[in-house]
Amino acid sequence: MTLGPSTIPTNAPTNAPADLVSWVAQIAELTKPDSVYWCDGSIEERDRFYEEMVSAGTFIRLNPAKRPGSYLARSAASDVARVESRTYICSQDPADAGPTNNWADPAEMKVTLQGLFDGAMRGRTMYVIPFSMGPLGGEISKLGIEITDSPYVVVNMRIMTRMGNQTMEAFAAGVEWVPAVHSVGYPLVDADGTTRPDLEWPCSDEKYITHFPETREIWSYGSGYGGNALLGKKCYALRIATVLAREEGWMAEHMLILRITGPDGRVYHLTAAFPSACGKTNLAMLRPTIPGWKVETVGDDIAWMRPGPDGRLYAINPEAGFFGVAPGTSEATNPTCLHALDHDVIYTNVALTDDGDVWWEGLTDTPPDHLIDWQGNDWTPASGTPAAHPNSRFTVHASQAESIAPDWEDPAGVPIDVILFGGRRARNVPLISESYDWEHGVFVGATVSSEQTAAAEGSVGELRRDPFAMVPFCGYNMADYWTHWLEMGKQLGDKAPRIFQVNWFRKAPDGHWLWPGFGENSRAIEWALRRVNGEIGATDAISGRIPAPGDLNVEGLDISEEDLAALFAYDTGSWGREAALTEEYFNQFGDKTPEELNTQLWYLRERIAKAAQA
Ligand code: OXD
Ligand code: MN
Repeated sequence: MTLGPSTIPTNAPTNAPADLVSWVAQIAELTKPDSVYWCDGSIEERDRFYEEMVSAGTFIRLNPAKRPGSYLARSAASDVARVESRTYICSQDPADAGPTNNWADPAEMKVTLQGLFDGAMRGRTMYVIPFSMGPLGGEISKLGIEITDSPYVVVNMRIMTRMGNQTMEAFAAGVEWVPAVHSVGYPLVDADGTTRPDLEWPCSDEKYITHFPETREIWSYGSGYGGNALLGKKCYALRIATVLAREEGWMAEHMLILRITGPDGRVYHLTAAFPSACGKTNLAMLRPTIPGWKVETVGDDIAWMRPGPDGRLYAINPEAGFFGVAPGTSEATNPTCLHALDHDVIYTNVALTDDGDVWWEGLTDTPPDHLIDWQGNDWTPASGTPAAHPNSRFTVHASQAESIAPDWEDPAGVPIDVILFGGRRARNVPLISESYDWEHGVFVGATVSSEQTAAAEGSVGELRRDPFAMVPFCGYNMADYWTHWLEMGKQLGDKAPRIFQVNWFRKAPDGHWLWPGFGENSRAIEWALRRVNGEIGATDAISGRIPAPGDLNVEGLDISEEDLAALFAYDTGSWGREAALTEEYFNQFGDKTPEELNTQLWYLRERIAKAAQA
């Protein structure tokens, strides 16, 4: 039987506005599900989905005595990470996507998607998820609707966004919302009526994660994993939001948000951009090792920032949960995060212990003698393969972190004093340096690079240019995004946050880490805040202003003089080569590269030349 619109009631709640209901009806007509279900976001609904997924084999209920309310999902082996090679920006003009994005013609992509989505949900339920990015009703917050055929997506979206009935009132007729359509691309019934059984992790070999910046739409096909499928996160809160932000005069950034209170009670706020897998979650839940300092979490991944009535820049966390990488999380690296994971967590692709708990590489020094690995196979330490996938994840509500700021949901946001840019760099980049001014800070952001890890495809260890940690996430031309940053700087003037660059990952020539990292990173931040306060001077260096001798607080830290010096050492030859690579990189963007950044490159070369003479 062919299902058509007349046979699929949309089942819309009575307070759903007509434009929304008619869009849902159109998607149902295209995708041809058995039924349409509007998510209300309630606990009862969540628990029902959990039960259903346990019965279907998608979820394994973890031992309630060890991890109450928690479940494990194992994805298909081919669906384990964001797929940047299948992620598209479909702007009318290819120049608006720019050289760092995959571009596709919007009309042609729509034809492709029509073909793929036609009947894609046959035999399944189509779930409608109304959600808000940011606290409901907040000035900086925005609405969206995700349609999906994946109950896994529904329960994850419930943690990651404000979702369901609570948002429905906000969808009054005429209010802007972003439509986002997702299918795992595995219909249970074909057009000719042939049926196939469901899989524990249905997905398709053909994947498309597409964004239409002009019409503000998201269409994602074929993957059920993370950022490919939870469309509020990277697709909306970054790729579409960057486009909205440029037009509306605000900033959508791949940044964590922290509140830091000094021993004198002074409160500061900081945002920080790090490419994937550079310890961003650890910094978001930092436990400072220096006495008297307190750190609270406002956000772990994304910041939406807007100038406030006092001219300062205010940030909100548009998300409600953390979708973090599990491996490496331990009592030593991030105890706050580890404790947040005690209960009510959805784990994906971690290993299962014999007593129904979870394990991942780095959780304990000694692995258990036996596990079931992320692919469902028996595993022992002799197996020689990772037990948890390197990009295995936890999904947990932000309120479960004991470091969460009590007012993290304040719709007004928090005023930002400091912006940090980080990367994973074995050489060249010092532990911390302060930009000479906003334009220099934008240059530093534009030249961020990092040694590649497993969060996206690519060869591990390779140096990847990742300006503002936004390469995979900017919904328009990266060079135009730099121009937008420069313009925001002009608007903010002397109220603009101060910009710093950090690198926790520098190594000595013999390969040992020069800096202990983790809680000790609070020392670098303390230096930045003392600079903001005007308490201390600094030394001009190639990369920016670095701590004057004795100013970085290393009291109680076991670090040799030699390593401390090496953390700030610069090799002018290597910096010269880096400048040449930057020129090459900027050239990719042709005339779009803002003149200010070319000027900054010239200043950098001047500083390198001066240092070489010294
Ligand atoms: C993430 C990422 O998952 O940046 O947050 O890759
Ligand atoms: Mn991220």
